[in-house]
Amino acid sequence: MSDPTVLISEADVQRRVGELAAEISRDYDGMGEITLIAVLKGAFIFLADLSRRLAVPRRIEFMALSSYEDGSTHSGAVRLVMDLRESIEGRHVLVVEDIVDTGRTLHYLIELLRTREPASVRTCALVRKKDRHEVEVAIDYLGFDIPDVWVVGYGLDYDEQHRALPYIGVVEPEGA
Ligand code: PRP
Repeated sequence: MSDPTVLISEADVQRRVGELAAEISRDYDGMGEITLIAVLKGAFIFLADLSRRLAVPRRIEFMALSSYEDGSTHSGAVRLVMDLRESIEGRHVLVVEDIVDTGRTLHYLIELLRTREPASVRTCALVRKKDRHEVEVAIDYLGFDIPDVWVVGYGLDYDEQHRALPYIGVVEPEGA
């Protein structure tokens, strides 16, 4: 695998996270507490930075989802690996994702959360591969649109490597 090359610098990531936090804080001002639901594992660093910059009351929850795999190919179906610990009934939910690729994960999650009767559900994603979407999913707060490349850093991995990089980089997977 190649060493990562910078796609979005640390300064640009931090500036954009600050802008998203300001926008979210404005939109939710006076609405009471938000429940931030981060999708593991990739969203953990984005959640940490975003949540610290919000000016509105918030609580933190985690969920883990995984794509069903059929040998080496993705079937497209999504599976719940770890659920919330608390009810979200009547709560304002903001889903925090690191990356939206086909959109299947976020679509599945939103549909699942809506069955639990929250007061509202919105979505926040750091990056989106716009050209890859297979399922229409609304992203209310988006950091960056990116091309169809393998991105790592700021929580994102390639085979569990590079999650701790402060910037978003690109790697060329082996055999690509
Ligand atoms: C990534 C990301 C999303 C999902 C997006 O998770 O965090 O949850 O893929 O893909 P989709 O739009 O095609 O559904 P990944 O499976 O890489 O797991 P990880 O976050 O634990 O690394």
